[in-house]
Amino acid sequence: VVTLAKKLHIKTYGCQMNVYDSARMADVLAPVGYAPSADAGGADMVILNTCHIREKAAEKVYSELGRLRLLKAAKEDAGGRMILAVAGCVAQAEGAEILRRAPYVDMVFGPQTYHRLPEMVARASRAGGAVLDTAFPPESKFDHLPAVPGAGERSAFLTIQEGCDRFCTFCVVPYTRGAEFSRPAEQVLDEARRLARDGAVEITLLGQNVNSYHGSAGGGGEWGLGRLIRAVSEIPGIDRIRYTTSHPADVDGALIDAHGHIAALMPFLHLPVQSGSDRVLAAMNRRHTADDYRRLADKLRDARPDIALSSDFIVGFPGETDADFRETLRLVEDVGFAQAYSFKYSARPGTPAAALEVQVPGPVKADRLDALQDLLNSQQRAFNESCVGRALAVLLDRRGRADGQLVGRSPYMQAVHVEDADARFGQVVDLEITAGYANSLAGRAAPPGATAENEKAYA
Ligand code: 5AD
Ligand code: SF4
Repeated sequence: VVTLAKKLHIKTYGCQMNVYDSARMADVLAPVGYAPSADAGGADMVILNTCHIREKAAEKVYSELGRLRLLKAAKEDAGGRMILAVAGCVAQAEGAEILRRAPYVDMVFGPQTYHRLPEMVARASRAGGAVLDTAFPPESKFDHLPAVPGAGERSAFLTIQEGCDRFCTFCVVPYTRGAEFSRPAEQVLDEARRLARDGAVEITLLGQNVNSYHGSAGGGGEWGLGRLIRAVSEIPGIDRIRYTTSHPADVDGALIDAHGHIAALMPFLHLPVQSGSDRVLAAMNRRHTADDYRRLADKLRDARPDIALSSDFIVGFPGETDADFRETLRLVEDVGFAQAYSFKYSARPGTPAAALEVQVPGPVKADRLDALQDLLNSQQRAFNESCVGRALAVLLDRRGRADGQLVGRSPYMQAVHVEDADARFGQVVDLEITAGYANSLAGRAAPPGATAENEKAYA
């Protein structure tokens, strides 16, 4: 008997946690007959795994749904059926509103319910009625996900923590992802071992507030992130560990110590600060000052002198004055970032900051964003140029545009291009950096032992 797999197309928006979730949705749907497909056209199921962080996120989902509606109609004209689903944070935030505005949608489900997908699909496959599941179920989805082999990728994501209890006043995450939850350490390690067995050399531990991790560790004990990273670093085959995203007020001594002592922990940290003004930080409910952040950066550099920092910034938070904004520029000058993301504040319905009276005018936000990005871009370029002449270990896991060209990631997350390296695809290779640009580096094969100098930096 030939069983033809049904085609499943998942379109993923937003952060790496959504990338991870999409892969797990595919795992959950495989036993009920769905195989991943790169095309939405002709698919038996299309899932939009949505993100609510950016402005007009919901509107973008509705217009994408409008396009998919045509594909769904075409499939029906051909005598087939397409199940159309909206998942992720927009699904969580909009809920039944999606079914009202786009009644041709079959399933709407939030980030905490996708382990129930087979049951939802069975319900949606029966005629009539859409499925809506935006609950925060008492059971953890992680306890119900199949233990499938990794996809064989060299650099893998692993969600260890989800949700957030910090309630920064601009942010929707505590509402869409729910309360903070840490997976038990042993469950994380099982998954990490499986990823390593299937070829992963690099693992990125994911969480909305990943360094608030406090997973149960047997015997009534709990592990923080530093301890967990140590255990992951002991898994054979795992050469590189990263984690994202972190909150400055949740960086503890054990984590700083891990940066100083665990060679596999990459010397790069995305540590969003959002603003350099104490007044704005307080209004954002960040619960630390700009000087706290400066001191934290110093401690991390004491532990690991070559650590590179990355950050997120919001300009034009309600009530932000020119003087506040200058404090942000001053913080950037003081700390120095290898890379950063910056955004104009935009109100998210339902968050405390959205209700504040003193919104900053659009043109002022635009000017501040330009000034901040000029500074951040110049720091990024300077950092990239400072790498020229150094030898860096690069994980070559993508093919470049030119024939024989490979692209990889440096320890500092820079994209590095190398020519004629085809044979080294998938490996961590020592490259001598020959050029540094605004957004990438170029390298060539370095002599053996060339990165020993870097290793000494923190030994
Ligand atoms: N407006 C602008 N930027 C925001 N971010 C989160 N919420 C908002 C908002 N309402 C930014 C923050 C966060 C990043 C993921 O997105 O900088 O760290
Ligand atoms: Fe949002 Fe991060 Fe603040 Fe949590 S810590 S509320 S996820 S910005």
